[in-house]
Amino acid sequence: MKDVIRKRNEVGPRSRRITEQESLHMAPGLQSFALYSGLAMARGQGSHLYDEDGNSYVDFIAGIAFGSFTTEVRARFLELLASVTPSGLTRIQLFSGGAEAVEAAFRLAKSATKKFEFVGYSGAFHGKTGGVLPLLWGSFKDGLGPFVPGCYVAPYAYCYRCPLSLTYPDCGLACAEKTREVIRNQTGGAVAAVIVEPMQGTAGNVIPPPGFLTAVRDIAKEAGALFIADEMITGFGRTGKFWGVDHDGVVPDVMTVGKGVGGGFPLSALISTDELTKHPPFSHPSGSSSSYGGNPLASAAGLASLEIVTKEDLVANSERVGRAMLEKLVAMQEKHAVIGDVRGKGLMLGLELVKDRRTRELVSKDFTRALFQECLRRGLLSMSYPPVIRINPPLNIDAATALEGLEILDEALGAVVRERGLN
Ligand SMILES: Cc1ncc(COP(=O)(O)O)c(C=O)c1O
Repeated sequence: MKDVIRKRNEVGPRSRRITEQESLHMAPGLQSFALYSGLAMARGQGSHLYDEDGNSYVDFIAGIAFGSFTTEVRARFLELLASVTPSGLTRIQLFSGGAEAVEAAFRLAKSATKKFEFVGYSGAFHGKTGGVLPLLWGSFKDGLGPFVPGCYVAPYAYCYRCPLSLTYPDCGLACAEKTREVIRNQTGGAVAAVIVEPMQGTAGNVIPPPGFLTAVRDIAKEAGALFIADEMITGFGRTGKFWGVDHDGVVPDVMTVGKGVGGGFPLSALISTDELTKHPPFSHPSGSSSSYGGNPLASAAGLASLEIVTKEDLVANSERVGRAMLEKLVAMQEKHAVIGDVRGKGLMLGLELVKDRRTRELVSKDFTRALFQECLRRGLLSMSYPPVIRINPPLNIDAATALEGLEILDEALGAVVRERGLN
């Protein structure tokens, strides 16, 4: 039987242009079929895919994921994202969840350094998957051991509850020095990376003093380890600057971002340099990618969110409204003895409720559960159920609404103290 002569598909000019645009910022290690095809996909229908130049393809890999292909929206998103990152951090790989991006950062660190140990911090939270579980703090990992070996923990700069019982600035950042000690005395000298949250979210919006991140960066460098900043919460203006690391003027080797990057849509990313991302096995075809990372819908969500953050200057809004909220919180602290500590940068604010300002003993969880309910009843949804309260409003909140929320918290706090005392 004679072969049917078919129209031949060629990689067309639109595919070429879009994949070239994307290749400026996409990290190596994308799915093999997407890489080898050189195509930018426009749409799918039934069992066919259509590229940006109108060529059609019978789809034999749908089960693996259409989302992996280059798309115009993804190329635009990567270009915009790379334009707002700290200097040199313009290589990006996309994922769907935060822990997934952190795990990828660990794989990158191992690939680039050929080492395999990790150092994290007391109070840390980086997600709940196997590779990062050993670096979580507190009860999150109760009953989930044994953990991956080779992970070590140094004290974070949590000044209100200094792990070394010292006071800043007289302490001379002694806690950072402990990182050096952990590396020297506890690890096997094969530290691939030190991972740190520029400000700790889950631990209670804990804000390290100036110089801490710089010291940690220097110690990581000295150990030949990468410095990973987990900007999952602190990124995209949350802290009143674009990145949490901007407060200390440090540029990490790797950043992990999530949450705000997709404006609520499941999207996360690893951001690093040309040099670090080129090491195998991270850089092998399919070496760094995932099925859903960078799918068209996630990329559209990322692009839309980032356009809004930049066009509406939400970083400035975060700084301005955050400052007004912090002032109000300080005033509330003067009024309520139960507020032991108040802190904040931008729209990442925290307060600690204590029975006694001298001992700093936290109020009970029953107290804060009652507070949470009182807030809800008055129309405020807040993370006021533990004694260390985190306040993380939307980046576009206006000052009047933000202060109204604090009025409610103020009133609810007064009511709970009146009803039950400080227990
Ligand atoms: C700093 C930080 N890193 C990583 C994660 C994990 O993100 P996900 O829950 O999307 O896996 C979180 C989640 O809260 C986080 O706060």
